[in-house]
Amino acid sequence: MPDEQGSGTSPSSVPIVKPPLLSVEESKALSVEQMGELFTAHINPGQYHYLTLLGFHRIKIERAEGMYYIDQNGRRILDFFGGFGSVGLGHNHPRLLAARTRFQDERRHDIALAFMSQYAAALSYNLAACSPGDLDMVFLGSSGSEAMEAAIKLAERAAGPLRPKIVYAENSFHGKTKGVLGVTDGRLYRADFTLPGNTLRVPFGDISAVERAFRSDPAIGTIVLETIQGGGGIISASPEYWRQLRALCDQYGVLWVADEVQCGYGRTGRFYAFEHYGVVPDVTALAKSLGGGKAAVGAMIARRDLYMRAYGTPETALIHASATFGGIGESAATAIEALNVLYDEALIDNAADTGAYLLERLRTLQRRYPRLIKEVRGQGLMVGLVFHDLSYAMPAMMRPVLGRFDERLKGAVSGSVGALLLRDYAVLVAFTEYDRNVIRLEPPLICQREHVDIFIESLDGLLSRGIVAIVKDFMKARRHSMKEGR
Ligand SMILES: Cc1ncc(COP(=O)(O)O)c(C=O)c1O
Repeated sequence: MPDEQGSGTSPSSVPIVKPPLLSVEESKALSVEQMGELFTAHINPGQYHYLTLLGFHRIKIERAEGMYYIDQNGRRILDFFGGFGSVGLGHNHPRLLAARTRFQDERRHDIALAFMSQYAAALSYNLAACSPGDLDMVFLGSSGSEAMEAAIKLAERAAGPLRPKIVYAENSFHGKTKGVLGVTDGRLYRADFTLPGNTLRVPFGDISAVERAFRSDPAIGTIVLETIQGGGGIISASPEYWRQLRALCDQYGVLWVADEVQCGYGRTGRFYAFEHYGVVPDVTALAKSLGGGKAAVGAMIARRDLYMRAYGTPETALIHASATFGGIGESAATAIEALNVLYDEALIDNAADTGAYLLERLRTLQRRYPRLIKEVRGQGLMVGLVFHDLSYAMPAMMRPVLGRFDERLKGAVSGSVGALLLRDYAVLVAFTEYDRNVIRLEPPLICQREHVDIFIESLDGLLSRGIVAIVKDFMKARRHSMKEGR
């Protein structure tokens, strides 16, 4: 019988031809030019534009160890970016590599959907052991967004059908999946999407705004806050704010979801940043360094009574249970080993000590370059280095003209500094989408004073050239890069 094309050959009898796939070895051997072509053709041409602008398109990372990336020319790049806090234990920690190799050599299983996983069970136990109060119930996923989705869904069910409204903060970032986008405040990320409604935005750190909201709207059942706003540019609220928030939540029966995806896991000198304030939220979330920089792991951790209210019966148990890749074996084993390393190597204490040293040295630099550095803020190894607008940094005669363009030129100083730090000093830092004047410093928690010294001396060397030279140099390099990237 002829097939649809009338060729007389049935589709099932046509042998499947392997498409021209690249192998792992071929992938490894791609040149930066080939990588650029594939990135533009298949990933994100617009993003490639930014990589080119900053000169990052010339770099191919071949290896990474501890505090360093190593590029195709053997250049060691000091990592003060830390994948926005995802590389807590440094790159390729030997104990994590060993745990993963052991797991593979023993042919352990990953996908355990039909059975219980000993690794998911142990990781959940470990997370409960690291968490204060009754934060005992854990949902494992594979990203921060997924952990935060789980957190707000659990809170909504626990709050009950009469209290579905969620309060969130100005300047917040909780991820880019559809649900959490509803409580993420970035215009760039939200615009043009139909988001889950029933939300109310309040200024971050303003307790009277929270109280007004709770008092005026009994439908409010949940408040979602990063303990330190990361994507917003490393912004903290006062200790008093958190204590009053806890009291208000108790008074009005509102559930507090603390997003610790970026600031948690020891980064600020405590396992959770909220522990600095002596308060405990109702639900929290971790991701990023939870997988030790090797595995994609996210976790929601909730009070047991709330969990039971939301999903505690056989009828409700499966409403939000087991994602396909949630707590899969090798990832969970990696996360278990990573938590052990975090404590065995006293990395939380190190984050506090080395972080204090970093802040102190940056404040000395701020006094040396007051027209460039506006503010140094943060806690532990979660630091924001805030630059002035370009017009303020420039010589007096240029200020009135440039001042008119400050909004458009936001990020000109931090962008130039970041790009030249990488090009001339092999130091990597992070940019901030919401406030482009802020450079974020989130080095691995293994960072030592000697690494801080290298970073500070690099930054000092660069800033001592003066802003005019820095911007001119960056603009020239940028023109060159753009020609190359075309
Ligand atoms: C505070 C916070 N929450 C949630 C997320 C989302 O995490 P992911 O990118 O793993 O989905 C991020 C990511 O940067 C974050 O910083």
